[in-house]
Amino acid sequence: MILVAPSILSADFGNLNSEIASVELFSDLIHVDIMDGHFVPNITFGPGQVGKMRANKPFDVHLMIENPEKYLKDFADGVMQAVGSELYARSFLVVHQEATKDLVGTVRMVKALGMKVGVALNPATSLDTLEDVLDDVDMVLCMTVNPGFGGQKFIESVMPKISQLRALRPDLHIEVDGGINLETARVARQAGANIFVAGNYVFGAPDRKTALESLRG
Ligand code: DX5
Ligand code: ZN
Repeated sequence: MILVAPSILSADFGNLNSEIASVELFSDLIHVDIMDGHFVPNITFGPGQVGKMRANKPFDVHLMIENPEKYLKDFADGVMQAVGSELYARSFLVVHQEATKDLVGTVRMVKALGMKVGVALNPATSLDTLEDVLDDVDMVLCMTVNPGFGGQKFIESVMPKISQLRALRPDLHIEVDGGINLETARVARQAGANIFVAGNYVFGAPDRKTALESLRG
């Protein structure tokens, strides 16, 4: 199943709800990038701001923050306010493997909150780091740029990791994020990815609907 998730990092932050409304009909998830200025050298939204967002699709909350376990409940509450209880249960909280000392406990906490759980890996992080959680996660996000900013170049050398993971887990959601466009989505799809995040490619497009549909292949 192919899913597309526009990243609102590339949207107009002064009009986020109308920006979300402009893409949600053609999207499966709304990708919300949370950056803390520590794990990545950029700052975006806190949980209060997430709670002011409104969407009719599940959220895909990409936590690029140190010690995410401290803030899971706050972001979960924000997602509940933003999308309501039905879409909440289909929304993802995604934590970085590199950002927590207790990945197993963090994964358990997200599940206990009643949300889908994803684990993100930076381009240089090996699949071996997921050994203890692979059977418990709903999604693995394989970053195809070093996180922190939109508009970076797709790192193709991540593809073997995706193929390896797809061979290990035929039914797992595998997401790619960073530098995704028509061509790179095709490359990532061939490797085995099935969820495509795109920021600049969607929000910078003259026709956002066409851009989103092109990612489905
Ligand atoms: C980068 C973020 C991405 C970003 C992707 O750290 O995680 O979600 O918005 O932007 P593009 O698609 O422009 O590379
Ligand atoms: Zn992201």
